[in-house]
Amino acid sequence: MNEVSETAVVRPITHVPCRHWHVDYGTIDTTGRLNEALPSEEIAVLTIDVAAQSTNALSREVMEEFDRVLNEIVSRGVQGLIIRSAKASGFIAGADVHEFENVNDANQAAQLARQGQLVLDRLPAFPFPSVALIRGFCLGGGLEVALACTYRVAVEDSATRFGLPEVRLGIHPGFAGTIRLPRVIGHIAALDLMMTGRSVDARTARRLGLVDDVVPERHALFAAQTFIQRHPPSRRAPWKKRLPALAPLRPLVARSLERRARAQADPDHYPAPYRIIDLWRRRASAEEEAASLGELLVGRTSRNLVHVFTLGEELKRRGRQHAHNIRSVHVIGAGTMGADIATWAAAQGFHVSLQDQQPEILARAVAHAAKFFQRRFKDARQLQAAMDRLTPDLTGHGLRRADLVIEAIVEKLDAKRALFAHIEEAAKPEAVLATNTSSIPLETIAQNLRDPSRLLGLHFFNPVTRMQLVELVRGKQTAEAALDRARAWTVAIDRLPLDVVSSPGFLVNRVLTPYLLEAVRLLEEGVPANSIDQAAVDFGMPVGPIELADTVGLDICLSVAETLSGPLGVPVPQELRELVAQGRLGKKTGHGFYRYDAKGRPRRSRRTSGGRLPRHIPIMERLVLRLLNEAMVCLREQIVDGPDAVDAGMVYGTGFAPYLGGPMRYAESLGSTGIGHSLYRLSQEYGERFAPDPGWSQPELLLRSGISSN
Ligand code: NAI
Repeated sequence: MNEVSETAVVRPITHVPCRHWHVDYGTIDTTGRLNEALPSEEIAVLTIDVAAQSTNALSREVMEEFDRVLNEIVSRGVQGLIIRSAKASGFIAGADVHEFENVNDANQAAQLARQGQLVLDRLPAFPFPSVALIRGFCLGGGLEVALACTYRVAVEDSATRFGLPEVRLGIHPGFAGTIRLPRVIGHIAALDLMMTGRSVDARTARRLGLVDDVVPERHALFAAQTFIQRHPPSRRAPWKKRLPALAPLRPLVARSLERRARAQADPDHYPAPYRIIDLWRRRASAEEEAASLGELLVGRTSRNLVHVFTLGEELKRRGRQHAHNIRSVHVIGAGTMGADIATWAAAQGFHVSLQDQQPEILARAVAHAAKFFQRRFKDARQLQAAMDRLTPDLTGHGLRRADLVIEAIVEKLDAKRALFAHIEEAAKPEAVLATNTSSIPLETIAQNLRDPSRLLGLHFFNPVTRMQLVELVRGKQTAEAALDRARAWTVAIDRLPLDVVSSPGFLVNRVLTPYLLEAVRLLEEGVPANSIDQAAVDFGMPVGPIELADTVGLDICLSVAETLSGPLGVPVPQELRELVAQGRLGKKTGHGFYRYDAKGRPRRSRRTSGGRLPRHIPIMERLVLRLLNEAMVCLREQIVDGPDAVDAGMVYGTGFAPYLGGPMRYAESLGSTGIGHSLYRLSQEYGERFAPDPGWSQPELLLRSGISSN
């Protein structure tokens, strides 16, 4: 550390580096440069740059160093403090999630939160003002740091985002965020941000009163310093926004929030939003916040949600290990899938040409894309740029230029083969060739290609704009380098690539099909659709299986079921065939198992909701055990590389109850012996389709999968 002379009139610029933070002392000029300063004008610029990480996360070590650095800043007697980040990725992403997994005791977790609170409590107690200067994401613990500062200045940048997403990991803020946020932006807005975990951009943050100013990057430091010099009163929510906290109103507001929360999530599955309401209703102290966080952090839901989160991060990490070298993409087939894939890729910054045989289908796809871009890009220039990146291409000019070609035409082998023969002729030799097929083995499509090693599967899920998973399908002939590039590209378009082996149904459809077919069996046995769907929703699925089948499209379900019926040895229910033959294809035709209203909501009829069950039928047990049993088959047959991949696939590809952490995590909690017994019992009563997979009694496989045998 540099020595500072007591007698100097002007203090030299001083730089104090530490491991995760460094401090510069001086005064900032209008160009944003730091200069030497008189003691009466010297400020500290504290920069967080967590070592060996691309993003700043607040681990215990980082917080301890923060505390020490604050000591040194106070002892210097500065006029103000600016906290900023050195990372290109943003300000601070939140607490270090990986540390959560090592905490097993609620008290220990509460203690950690309490220590963090005490560090942040120092900021408002300083005799000088502090400013958080924020560019990029400012989430969770990062926003709590900012809230503890006197002022918040945001840099105008589309990447700047504010939020408290803890609830998505089954917890709530723990550095006094539940107390500070309502004070700054008002109670209802604060509870909404905390309970949904959503994030807002800089402009919205300004409107909410979360930030004091939004400035261009080049003025940011100087603007932050100006706040210190002028020292206006710090922000407090206006009286209207403080009203809901008045004693007579508080319980009423809490009850109404609870009702809203119940419509979204079951408190037994997702307790965190209810805890947030409860802390607020009780005007809980920071200590109480920390204690509640501690309990949640070691609970089942948070453990499993953190598991799901880390699985997603791991898929991204693997994708980032290679370069994709892809600039332009050519998508062939502008139907349901092709149009959405092209739209999404263009929105993510790629030049995309979209080809179809029929001009009216192309026109519809482009109109659909324009609507999506309008919702997504509020800035006129960004909107125009996105539109410009997507080119309708009736003649297929784009094919010759493309670095990646994605085929999304009808699910017919002959048509796909003929198309790939043409693609291979016209495309660049180094272009990666991908098919979006959901059921045709890659080897069969690749059969007549001169270089079949370029062909792989990129199996997107419907709707592409909402489903995060993409199965990256490896045929026997696929080259590793092509997979590496496709994996990297999938991450670049903000989707999660899951490696799967080419086999009927890959992972997700294969595991889902027995579950959906069992639901149709239940229906055939006279169980109302509504009861089946409600049982699944109560279990924690986002929608019930009957409504899901209608949403996917019964024609598609039938074609997947037919592809899988041979390898899986399951008959296709007659009811499914009949509905498809009648043209009742589900939501898209307004009628499938359910009838749908103009807004796409199922209408409940007597058949779907009426009637009494003839006898007790274990609806959910039958549905889930078929799903778990098939997941075990996939594991045993090494369709994916382990239980984590099964969990990632089913949660991110189908929304399988995230609070359970995925099917294999759930199986782990049930134990293999219990699952084996239940399957055996069901097989006695309902037939061979429930016969337990041999995997449930293979100790080595169970051990590798982390499933206990009790
Ligand atoms: P779709 O029937 O909506 O669209 C197919 C489009 O391809 C049509 O617009 C048609 O005009 C066009 N087309 C057909 N032959 C062509 C050719 N030779 N050249 C140019 N365009 C041609 O089909 P959808 O549902 O989009 O499915 C496409 C592929 O994606 C299929 O392989 C399907 O198995 C797969 N898939 C479908 C999912 C879904 O939920 N719909 C989910 C995942 C994969």
